Amino acid sequence: MTKKFINRLDQGLSDLKESHLHREVRLYNNFECNLASNDYFQLRFHPKVIAGARRACEKFGSGSGASPLLSGFLPCHKELLEEIIVWKQKPYGMLFNSGFVANQAILKHLPGKKDLVLADRLIHHSLAQALLSCPAKFKRYSHLDMDELEKLLQKNHENFDTLFVVTESVFSMDGDYPDLKKLVALKHKYPFVLVLDEAHGTGVFGENGGGLAEEMGVLSDVDILIGTLGKSLASMGAYVLSHNQSVIDYLTNVSGEYIYSTFLSPSQVGAALESIKLIKTYDEQRKKIRRISKYVRSQLKQNYQEYESPIIPIFIGDPHKTLNLRDILLKNKILVGAVRPPTVPKETSRLRISLHSDINEESLDILLNLIKTWKKD
Ligand SMILES: Cc1ncc(COP(=O)(O)O)c(C=O)c1O
Repeated sequence: MTKKFINRLDQGLSDLKESHLHREVRLYNNFECNLASNDYFQLRFHPKVIAGARRACEKFGSGSGASPLLSGFLPCHKELLEEIIVWKQKPYGMLFNSGFVANQAILKHLPGKKDLVLADRLIHHSLAQALLSCPAKFKRYSHLDMDELEKLLQKNHENFDTLFVVTESVFSMDGDYPDLKKLVALKHKYPFVLVLDEAHGTGVFGENGGGLAEEMGVLSDVDILIGTLGKSLASMGAYVLSHNQSVIDYLTNVSGEYIYSTFLSPSQVGAALESIKLIKTYDEQRKKIRRISKYVRSQLKQNYQEYESPIIPIFIGDPHKTLNLRDILLKNKILVGAVRPPTVPKETSRLRISLHSDINEESLDILLNLIKTWKKD
């Protein structure tokens, strides 16, 4: 390696440090209350989920052994897919190794040169980055702004072969969500392919934990539904579902992300399968998440009062101050995420509280008091 090359990297790193935007992998093991995971029901510790992983591992091996088209697609993958298809009420689907690659595959391969993709300004990096290598043109609309989206649809719907609208259900860094009923009404007026990423809605919303689309009664209007196995399903991997077989067949044939990667391991599959079975019955846990979400939001008196998701941002703005509050909370044995640009827009650095159904409510009061005291200083 040349000195010039390493100097360039070091310069980049020191710029990041100076602006308090440097990141490092840390082993957090000194906390009692974890408010920084996406495991909204703490299922990764559930004996049935662990037993499911063990069973699948013992039966099918520690790895899948190959990519899915070669021989990596095993009976456990088939069983999981069938379970998801029934749960999410879509007849066709496929599994991916992560939500990140599933999103990349969808936006890189499905929109064509003569198409237009309209995407919420705050969509997850896995989608935003894929837009840059998508053959279609794309435009971003202001976050959750259905009026602006309607104007874009009105202006463009006759000029392109196919329009796509891409949004998350529960936004990963803001915990808010679009009015999916309004979105679907727009779809009836100006036909488009609706791509919905339910990474954070799954498990938490809907009578069966099917997600926000289930909750809002619009599942049948979602054309391409993405969900991950790594959040409330306490495993790793993802699925893409559709009511149209061609979408799945096409991705199976052209998506390098799918074709050229060793398929997810049996233990991941076995864990996800058990999590789904449990989550479907988790009415009380879902109610608890909504209740504590409302409580924390009301105590914080910030924006975002009307949402009931487990993700609650505490806006601070300055990245250094954000890290400072994160460290104070950690000293008090509470772990929360500190999120800074470029993950979130400039001047919106924040703590990201991620609630889960096993939380002891006293720790929430400790958290809220610490935040209130810090603000006074
Ligand atoms: C909205 C959203 N989509 C996709 C992903 C990626 O999922 P995975 O962690 O399975 O790669 C994430 C993960 O943070 C996410 O928040």
